[in-house]
Amino acid sequence: MPISPPNNLIPLDAILPEEPLLMMGAGPVPIPVRVAAANSIVINHLGDTMAQIIEQVKSMSAYVFQTESAQVLGVAGPGSAAMEMAVANLVEPGDSVLCVINGFFSNRLAEMAGRAGATIHPLRVSGEHSANVADIETWLDQHKPKLLTIVQGETSNTVCNQKLQQICHAARARNCMIIVDAVCTLSTMPLYMDDWGIDAVITGGQKGLSSIPGVSLVAFSRRAWQTIGERRAPMAHWCLDARLANKFWYEQSYHYTAPVSGVLAIHEALKLICSETLPVRFHRHLRSSMALQAGIEAMGLTLFVEPAHRLNSVVGVNLPSGIKSLDLLRAMSSRYRVEISGSFGADIVRIGQMGEQSRAHNIFRTLHALGASLATLGAAVDVPAGVSALEKKLEAFDRQSQHGTIIPVTNNAADNSSVVHH
Ligand SMILES: Cc1ncc(COP(=O)(O)O)c(C=O)c1O
Repeated sequence: MPISPPNNLIPLDAILPEEPLLMMGAGPVPIPVRVAAANSIVINHLGDTMAQIIEQVKSMSAYVFQTESAQVLGVAGPGSAAMEMAVANLVEPGDSVLCVINGFFSNRLAEMAGRAGATIHPLRVSGEHSANVADIETWLDQHKPKLLTIVQGETSNTVCNQKLQQICHAARARNCMIIVDAVCTLSTMPLYMDDWGIDAVITGGQKGLSSIPGVSLVAFSRRAWQTIGERRAPMAHWCLDARLANKFWYEQSYHYTAPVSGVLAIHEALKLICSETLPVRFHRHLRSSMALQAGIEAMGLTLFVEPAHRLNSVVGVNLPSGIKSLDLLRAMSSRYRVEISGSFGADIVRIGQMGEQSRAHNIFRTLHALGASLATLGAAVDVPAGVSALEKKLEAFDRQSQHGTIIPVTNNAADNSSVVHH
């Protein structure tokens, strides 16, 4: 019997809300109009036009990753595909890999390394803390791994490995290669691939870059690329084989049909980052996240992670007692058309501060929606105090900039990179 088309389909317009929700969760994030417009175009995936676009994507990526030596490859797939590309190409069966695990995504890197046949040495960091350099040095000396995997920002529990630079230095000094997951952090906070000696940096499109989900990037150092070139074990993944991907990204030939619209979108997203410049972009993210955090606290709420370990790109907020995360998310999206994220187990909600999310108009609307929804659900919050604190913090940042103050680009005292104004 032939199968008929389904007869109970609801039109897309009836499924989607009349006005799009403001996406203020842990990703995907809102995309600029130019990115959306580029994403609506389909061109030939091979040929001169595409070759020109790919050249520009690579040179702009080199700026965003802060690398001269990298082999930058795009991946048709989520951030996880880029993670798997980095891990599967660099790990051979029997390799020893030190996996720094702060949460869900760093654990995923360990799982991938295990599936690639590595002997895993998991260094689990407990209690919403960033990884400690001394602990990592001890493990590096004890296990002498070929490779270390780590996330810069652990989106799942809003912990930031604030000592990443020192950790990379420690690994590099012991001739251990380093894979860094910068899916939620790239272009939102400092990461200097070459200066820090990182061998593979992974990012997705839908977070810091403010592009669409489904096209991701991975950059390999010269040392990593040489290791991949000397690989003896066959690659189990055909699509994620970096040497095959290189045919498309560096030799203008066919690997698989590239996701052209997504590549055009990421081209536009990278172009916006290059025009804004990284120092200005880091400062915008820091200003916005610090103001949002001040507003949340002034409202009477608490943040999940202590400042010394806190990620600014995704902010974790403790739920007041008696409030269920799902009720809060529903109230915020139905009444205020603002969407934030639930959690991976902890009693928190998460608010993103990546790309277009880090704009004053978006954080005011989100903070108000959060406070007003909590008040409706019966929590004791002071919404005007929160909004006023947010305003004051933004103004304080602007005053400092006007007076030529040096504003650190992270809230990490150990990081000496900074934005100098005037
Ligand atoms: C830090 C981090 N790594 C990896 C991923 C995986 O990305 P994707 O969901 O696009 O596969 C995410 C996604 O939230 C993330 O936040």
